[in-house]
Amino acid sequence: MASTPYPIADLQAMCLQIAKAAGQAVAGAAGADRLAAHTKSSATDVTTAMDVKAEQLIRQMIRARRPQDAILGEEGGTAAGSSGLTWVVDPIDGTVNYTYGLPDYAISVAVVAGPGDPAGWRILAGCVHAPARQALWWAGAGLGAYANGRRLRLRQAVAPGLSLTGTGFGYRPEKRQAQAAELAGLLHQLRDIRRAGSAAIDLCHVADGRLDAFYERGLNPWDMAAGALVVTEAGGVVAGPGGSAPSSELTVAGPEATVRWLVEHLSSRRANLSRDSE
Ligand code: IPD
Ligand code: CA
Ligand code: CA
Repeated sequence: MASTPYPIADLQAMCLQIAKAAGQAVAGAAGADRLAAHTKSSATDVTTAMDVKAEQLIRQMIRARRPQDAILGEEGGTAAGSSGLTWVVDPIDGTVNYTYGLPDYAISVAVVAGPGDPAGWRILAGCVHAPARQALWWAGAGLGAYANGRRLRLRQAVAPGLSLTGTGFGYRPEKRQAQAAELAGLLHQLRDIRRAGSAAIDLCHVADGRLDAFYERGLNPWDMAAGALVVTEAGGVVAGPGGSAPSSELTVAGPEATVRWLVEHLSSRRANLSRDSE
């Protein structure tokens, strides 16, 4: 393992501790706290009181231990720091599932060296916790990826036609229309598609073998930071357009060969789509 100036094992332990505490609060909430309170980008993009409360709890826990670190959270935006590390936090990934009583929602906590931007960060540690499924995935850079204590190793690549592939859709109708058109050109070439409603869990499912691959357009840094490290530490690849770093344009995860196929295929699909809509 390459030596690192960062206390990766401590950061990993902290991610776990924070995700567990937030998970307990989120899973234990009842009544109005679990209901949609505000909308964001569209009428279907909802925030509950618990999204905000959980992020407050997470921020307090980070500040108490590492006040010099920056924090990027979905609900509270960016708090600057001086250490060069940034915590990237989604207090509830899968809020729609949460409001419907579906179990696929998770707390995603990661810490990266650099800014909260996949183009320039190095993910040091991360934890995805789905309390309603008693599931805890975590990883530390160079320390491996784990699910409830079990070391994870990615499934071997299978042909695209045998790949069970997770994906997700944005909240704005016009974006969904483009995503649906892209999917229509892909679906017959895959084993099937799964849309569970939490990108963080989808990424962990690539790492634990419940999915062969995952792709989504439009993810934010907090949707992917922890899950991406779980994938790469399990031996997988997470890439973006043209095989570069993942980005809000495209995030693809899986074994290297599958990611290469998806990146190529999705890029050409996209070009075709934009030509069609001219
Ligand atoms: C969403 C989930 C969903 C994905 C969306 C995300 P949120 O996060 O990860 O699976 O398809 O793109 O925005 O809004 O529940 O935190
Ligand atoms: Ca999210
Ligand atoms: Ca969220």
